[in-house]
Amino acid sequence: MPASPRPFLLCLTTAAALFLPAAAEEATLRSVFKDDFTVGVALNGWTLSDRNPNATGLAARQFNSLTAENDMKWQMIHPQPDRYNFTAADAYVEFAEKHKMEVIGHTLVWHSQTPRWVFEGADGKPATREELLKRMRDHIQAVAGRYKGKVKGWDVVNEALSDGGREILRDSPWRKIIGDDFIDHAFRYAREADPEAQLYYNDYGLEDPRKRANCVKLVKGMLERKVPVDGIGTQSHFHLVQPSLEDIEKTIADFAALGLKVVVTELDVDVLPGRGPSGNADIGRREQGDSTTNPYTAGFPPDMQEKLAKRYADIFGIYLKHRKSVDRVTFWGLGDGHTWLNGFPIRGRTNHPLLFDRELKPKPAFEAVIRKGREPRSP
Ligand code: G3I
Repeated sequence: MPASPRPFLLCLTTAAALFLPAAAEEATLRSVFKDDFTVGVALNGWTLSDRNPNATGLAARQFNSLTAENDMKWQMIHPQPDRYNFTAADAYVEFAEKHKMEVIGHTLVWHSQTPRWVFEGADGKPATREELLKRMRDHIQAVAGRYKGKVKGWDVVNEALSDGGREILRDSPWRKIIGDDFIDHAFRYAREADPEAQLYYNDYGLEDPRKRANCVKLVKGMLERKVPVDGIGTQSHFHLVQPSLEDIEKTIADFAALGLKVVVTELDVDVLPGRGPSGNADIGRREQGDSTTNPYTAGFPPDMQEKLAKRYADIFGIYLKHRKSVDRVTFWGLGDGHTWLNGFPIRGRTNHPLLFDRELKPKPAFEAVIRKGREPRSP
């Protein structure tokens, strides 16, 4: 009777397991930066939908932090005085739990995407300070309270700083009705609602020295008044050349010097020509397009791919250099097909600001960031 081949095969398998190198683990954003910072993505209803297994699979593989691009904003989650709609927001939390991702709450108090009734009182008059403070507190209690223990950190106040002029703060309805201390109140209510969550002040364009100095002033004042702020979110809606690497680095260093966590909350790199002030991500800002402002409708050419890759590698070089201060880096979208930059500041363009293209394939910029992540760290 011929000897059974079984023991022989078993020996082979054992030898292979002992001596052959294990299949190389896929290098992902969440794995290469795991000892540095979390790497997040903002998803929207489209990307998170069950009908998009490619998108959800990619997001879960690459990222370990999740922000809802729109679904936790006041307008979405609390459209009417007595009606909250948590269905969409709950889906992000469930998805994140399933894929071991942290959840970031965006955002509790913002002048945009807030229904008009929030600022109205009786008889069509503006709400009083007391009415609006109560509304703010109720909203924060309901939203941050619901996700207590599930959300790692909240963008408590978004974009309260002005973009120019002599005023430090934007003249938003929050400020007009409550006064400058609306920010302090928002943070105190948020701490009350979820004592464990990290609380961030979040804004765009902080690489601009004037706005950055105002942000430092604002947050220093909050710290002196014992307002519970844990970190500053620098949105980081960048362009290919602007802001300079020096300003990006200085922004991180200045905020870290306050003893606060620095979180990069909305990273993307606009590659299209524009006329307006670069770095101004004010959603209300619009520009007119012409034949020169939408040059890459037929695809993103190799030389531009390389420019974008170099820009991302440089930016991540700075994040790594400051990895003790940078807590998280979140991309504002998954793939180029569904980025807000296809519609801003000129509507209907074809932008290419992210690491994954319209088919969710990795771009050279993705490879460049992964390569950066694999470089040895300086002490
Ligand atoms: O959901 C409605 C839909 O029902 C309606 O038919 C459609 C018609 O326009 O609008 C849909 O809402 C849009 C929403 O995105 C969801 O897609 C809004 O019009 C549109 O203005 C909104 O844009 C978002 C914008 O914030 C305003 O909330 C962008 O997707 C989002 O990327 C952008 O994110 C902001 C951050 O929250 C704060 N920092 C700047 C950043 C970029 O502007």
